[in-house]
Amino acid sequence: MSKVEQYITSIPDFPKEGIIFRDITTVLGDADGFHLAVDEMTALLDGVEFDAIAGLESRGFLFGAPMAYNLHKAFIPIRKQGKLPRATSRMSYELEYGMETIEVHRDDIKPGMKIVVVDDLIATGGTLEAAVHLLEQLGAKVVKVVCLLELKGLHGRDRITTCPAETVVAYE
Ligand code: PRP
Ligand code: HPA
Repeated sequence: MSKVEQYITSIPDFPKEGIIFRDITTVLGDADGFHLAVDEMTALLDGVEFDAIAGLESRGFLFGAPMAYNLHKAFIPIRKQGKLPRATSRMSYELEYGMETIEVHRDDIKPGMKIVVVDDLIATGGTLEAAVHLLEQLGAKVVKVVCLLELKGLHGRDRITTCPAETVVAYE
């Protein structure tokens, strides 16, 4: 298991009873932890050919942007509906209660572009599934999904079917 795990805090009964919330703010809040997390996520891209990293608002920005900076790649934000100013394409997905919609600037995605999608966490996988479909619908090829952590019991990874998905830390 990665050394990053020691920087993740587990909070019982948040946001509701029975849930153990894996808090990544303690990774960010430690200079060594933050470096280790970004470096280990970046290492998952060794040998992967791609044009840009797309990060998911908001916690995906915290890891995707430094990875893109380190690798001298473009960073493309995928945001919640209503935040991006130019023409967008969107994709809706189900949350535990209700729906969420994510958007990307249409002109950020060129057909055939190879994109890596980055987020902090795979829980149910609904967010990443929607992001991958959104980018593919615009003609991009999503070559890999990289996250810091994964909640294995929710089987979110099974919803990412068109490319490999890798995480640094996995919880049962
Ligand atoms: C969280 C997390 C992932 C997503 C994972 O984001 O950062 O993006 O949920 O859940 P899923 O696998 O069940 O879809 P959230 O929408 O809470 O936004 P935030 O990053 O702004 O907190
Ligand atoms: N940690 C952070 N975000 C989350 C979690 C978690 O355990 N579960 C769903 N979103």
